[in-house]
Amino acid sequence: WPRSACAGPDGLSIAGISVNELAARFGTPAYILDEDEVRRRCLDYRVALPDFEIAYAGKALMCRAVLRLMAEQGFSLDVCSAGEVAAARAAGFPAERILLHGNAKTSEDWKAALGYQVGRIVVDSLDEIQQLGSLARYPQRVLIRVTPGVDGHTHKAIATGVEDQKFGFSLRSGAAMAAVDAVLAQPGLRLAGLHCHIGSQVASVAGYELAARRMVEFIGRIRDRHGVVVGSLDLGGGHAVPYLPGEQEFDLTGYAQRVRVAVNYTASALGIPALKLTIEPGRALVANAGVTLYRVVTVKGPYVAVDGGMSDNMRVALYGARYLVRLAGRPSGAPIRTVSVVGRHCEAGDVLATDVPLPSDVRPGDVLAVPVTGAYHHSLASNYNQVCRPPIIGVRDGFARPLVRRETEEDLLARDVG
Ligand code: LLP
Repeated sequence: WPRSACAGPDGLSIAGISVNELAARFGTPAYILDEDEVRRRCLDYRVALPDFEIAYAGKALMCRAVLRLMAEQGFSLDVCSAGEVAAARAAGFPAERILLHGNAKTSEDWKAALGYQVGRIVVDSLDEIQQLGSLARYPQRVLIRVTPGVDGHTHKAIATGVEDQKFGFSLRSGAAMAAVDAVLAQPGLRLAGLHCHIGSQVASVAGYELAARRMVEFIGRIRDRHGVVVGSLDLGGGHAVPYLPGEQEFDLTGYAQRVRVAVNYTASALGIPALKLTIEPGRALVANAGVTLYRVVTVKGPYVAVDGGMSDNMRVALYGARYLVRLAGRPSGAPIRTVSVVGRHCEAGDVLATDVPLPSDVRPGDVLAVPVTGAYHHSLASNYNQVCRPPIIGVRDGFARPLVRRETEEDLLARDVG
């Protein structure tokens, strides 16, 4: 929950506004975003990692208000498509602080990124190095995405540090050095650094430490082969957040210390000057600031069905993610029973949470709240069953305003041009 969430006599409030008022004013389902909670998380990062460049991974939650907030923090930005470049541009995010990612950048992506003159591009294949080498009109700074062969112990769909997945150039196979050779051979490209991202929702620091050490050793080998000293290292994002009570917070202080030691110790042993370090957290900055509000539509036996579902929360279906659900609109002294909270979509798998303890008097019209839904909820949302995507409502100091409005049926029909 955001720190501002508190239970009162007429239900839950967030940033001083009752969820009943939010649900009545903006409708449900709705993604509520506590803007000060995002700022607090950013501050945690700035305090723990003052010597790191922090590049917000915009894919976690992208809208102009959030991008402006990240820009105000002095953060950089990780984007991965022409659409994300367009959003960054619309928010006035400084181009020189943007990094472009992606394993298969299309001609539209190149055009958008080069048109806005983004500061750095992370290359992920030899084809890309060729393409970018011929497209760049000025010396383009690039990072090479390296696969360090590190297991972050996360869900397979979001494990990206291991061999045998689509991202990066493998260290072990020699592909990473071939990529270095290729970048250095392109006069239009400047090798600005190396990048790795071992996965998402990574709970332990050990994998980052190992990846950092391997990356610095690789910088040593590049120096030995080419006489070029790579000056910066981007260690990606992936810091886990707790979704359920009792789950551990990511040890950010431990991360900072252990990664610094791994980098500095390895670098000094190899005679490499101090490296500039970058990280790319997405989820960790926004997840906890988000709460999704639903209204109960019907209660049938052990199934409490709400007015949203897999179209606004894909994470259950994709990763078997687990969530807490609370009766938020009113207090209840009724005995607790265990239910499944399900959505309104035409699939038996459209389940938001199982084994949920809820008061047995939960009834149609009740407002339910699901916390930790600020990251990869709006950005993964779909129009399945021709359902309109929910709005993002920013809340702060007792005020609420839409940051992204609710989608309308006209929005959906406008695309149907056949
Ligand atoms: N950097 C790169 C290159 C990435 O690909 C990602 C996430 C990040 C940084 C940020 O990772 P984070 O700090 O947010 O974990 N839809 C999935 C997560 C996909 C992550 C994709 N890449 C989920 O909902 O769990």
